[in-house]
Amino acid sequence: MCQDDCDERNIELKLERMSDFFASRLNRYDEHMLSEIEGAREFYPYTATLLPMEQGAKVLDLGCGTGLELEYYFALNRAASVVGIDLSAEMLSALREKFEDKEIKLINASYFDVPLGENDYDAVVSVESLHHFTAAEKLKLYEKICAALTQNGYFVLTDYFAESEAAERFYFSELERLISEQKLEQKEHYHYDTPLTVEHEIEVLKKAGFSGVQIMKKWENTYTLLARR
Ligand SMILES: C[S@@+](CC[C@H](N)C(=O)[O-])C[C@H]1O[C@@H](n2cnc3c(N)ncnc32)[C@H](O)[C@@H]1O
Repeated sequence: MCQDDCDERNIELKLERMSDFFASRLNRYDEHMLSEIEGAREFYPYTATLLPMEQGAKVLDLGCGTGLELEYYFALNRAASVVGIDLSAEMLSALREKFEDKEIKLINASYFDVPLGENDYDAVVSVESLHHFTAAEKLKLYEKICAALTQNGYFVLTDYFAESEAAERFYFSELERLISEQKLEQKEHYHYDTPLTVEHEIEVLKKAGFSGVQIMKKWENTYTLLARR
């Protein structure tokens, strides 16, 4: 997903903290995703079809936002039991309003910080949330996800990936430049897209312990990957 209103080189871009970015765009978030992100009208319903259909299936959604993927999932499995984690309290409030009658627990925190448990979930899903992080950050998170899944559990990742290794390096160097020029805290997470290539993403998933990773489908640079525990 491209940064809002900017060119390849983000000379003027003022970095915003991740949760502030989404809170301030909440009003038009769903409409923006569905009408402006290539493939969105297909990848949300498609992602939902890969999730477990058994009654009471336990699913963890990382970066659930306003619950776009969950709308399609609950339409297929009304009796799923979902835990959603998101940094933005505002996004979670919007989600809560959509699913008042559903079995859903929401955690307002970073998925890097929250313990995810062991052998607990039939599936973990994440849509359009993980393209902001380094391979090292993802490795630790993917190890936690792997451990949180049941024996036959799996992770469905729908996200956008860098078009080449050169593009991947460019995004990370741009982020470093912007943080340094704007004299920002290095450890904070800002909303700036730093996708890995899909090949690097798959390497990280396998390194984290997933036994197999399949590319299920793609729309331009957005892919759905399925990683089995
Ligand atoms: C582009 S939105 C995607 C939301 C939803 N999955 C969808 O596709 O509509 C990215 C979401 O990830 C959340 N997010 C980003 N980093 C996070 C983190 N470290 N922990 C939890 N949520 C995070 C943001 O707050 C935001 O709601």
